[in-house]
Amino acid sequence: MTIRHFLSLLDLSGDELRSLIKHAIDVKKKLRSGITHTPLNGKVLAMIFEKSSTRTRVSFESGMSQLGGHAMFLSPRDIQLGRGEPLDDSARVISSMVDAIMIRTFGHDRLEEFTASSAVPIINGLTDKLHPCQLLADMQTWFELRGDIKGATVTWVGDGNNMCHSYINAAKQFDFHLNIACPVNYLPDQDILASASDRITMTHQLEEAVENSDLVVTDVWASMGQEQEQQTRLAEFSEFQVNQQAMRLAHKDALFMHCLPAHRGEEVTAEVIDGHQSVVWQEAENRLHAQKALLEFLITGLD
Ligand code: CP
Ligand code: NVA
Repeated sequence: MTIRHFLSLLDLSGDELRSLIKHAIDVKKKLRSGITHTPLNGKVLAMIFEKSSTRTRVSFESGMSQLGGHAMFLSPRDIQLGRGEPLDDSARVISSMVDAIMIRTFGHDRLEEFTASSAVPIINGLTDKLHPCQLLADMQTWFELRGDIKGATVTWVGDGNNMCHSYINAAKQFDFHLNIACPVNYLPDQDILASASDRITMTHQLEEAVENSDLVVTDVWASMGQEQEQQTRLAEFSEFQVNQQAMRLAHKDALFMHCLPAHRGEEVTAEVIDGHQSVVWQEAENRLHAQKALLEFLITGLD
């Protein structure tokens, strides 16, 4: 069997992503109905976290248990990787003992280097460049609430960061239009942007972007690893807060999403994130269901 990895949404076809989301909705129903579903009996997932996490860690760990397998949390503080053991040596060794590996790290090149020496599927649990697992949950949430996202207008507000890049990839794979409103000095990666230019409208005006949107999405202004830029960013992003005034410009039934953790009063007001258009709790919970479908797809090879 060829090893499939999930470093980016582009690693699966649009059809595979849609069927994965359908399966995620099914496994969620099974769990809710108390039906046991353990296709990963005896399988092991190693999870390497070089950055903090709540949702990613809890969802992968619970997900593996619910599927009949086991997840192993590896902190760089405790394993030899943190003391300088080469990435490729670590990948060879760890992948000889487990069935899949999830990694959350800084540079995307670290993830790619690790993947090149792995004998088992690698899952991107977030890098500075991409956060594809979050997009599976976001898309599942949309599909549950509104049906297929094809043809919808989604607006990304804020930093041209890992989440923004994954939304650009999602626009391509799921066939929706993406407006991006970000400050001039915080643009997304130009190559990623260029790869989906026919689906993107770039602006530096929040109002212009949000108008007539079906879904408004934002994220923190300073991501993990950018803590020292927090003060500068607070000033540079002040015009990019998703508040009630902005949401009024979107369609009446527009949804609001945020990958969390959120900073109320910065990128989003409490009124919006805790308001009736926000679906952030369903979105967060869907990390569990979407990744269970992903684990099954990658480990058993079945979609
Ligand atoms: N959204 C997300 O990935 O959250 P964590 O950083 O808590 O994993
Ligand atoms: N852009 C954020 C997402 C956190 C889930 C970060 O990288 O910190």
